[in-house]
Amino acid sequence: MTHPPRHPPFRVLLSRDQILRRTQELARQITADAGAEPLCLVVVIEGARTFARQLQQLLPGQPPLHEVRASSYSGTESTGVVQLAVGRDVPCRGRDVLLLEDIVDTGRTVHALRRHFLANGATSCRIATLLSKPSRRVVPVELDYTGFEIPDEFVLGFGMDLDGRYRELPEIVIYEAEVERAFQAASAH
Ligand code: IMP
Repeated sequence: MTHPPRHPPFRVLLSRDQILRRTQELARQITADAGAEPLCLVVVIEGARTFARQLQQLLPGQPPLHEVRASSYSGTESTGVVQLAVGRDVPCRGRDVLLLEDIVDTGRTVHALRRHFLANGATSCRIATLLSKPSRRVVPVELDYTGFEIPDEFVLGFGMDLDGRYRELPEIVIYEAEVERAFQAASAH
């Protein structure tokens, strides 16, 4: 018996295999660049959690992951205002921070976070992002490690969501409202 698909048939941009292979390459570069002291890994939740866990497993000693929350999106639109929630317990003072992000879009989030950690005593703050949309940049930011540069499309899956939906998709897909509407209409019958 075949089961109907549980998700709209969005176009796949990056397969799980492509993502995993690229994450391994990033882990090798990060390891080669790291100093003697363990990195202070900081993941921007929720979206970057899947990428961050994968990467963490591939780094020597599997340094602990510290979480910060940042939000700037409403639906598929950037509001231009970044709200940060960084716990006092992130041990960044005197450490090399590595920020792990799912996607750098306007650049505001990683810019604000880098500024925060450097202002709070981090020795350095580098950025590793799974995805980057260079054509959307508003704030120039230097990205130290980039998984994939992608076009200006709203993407979902591998931890990334649209108002909480589609985060669990194993690969990265391109969101299309039309495809979602057609799927919902068909499922209703
Ligand atoms: P920035 O501050 O504009 O660079 O936005 C970065 C944040 O916006 C990311 O961490 C995501 O949470 C969200 N974001 C930007 N583009 C997308 C997308 O295509 N899909 C899902 N989330 C996105």
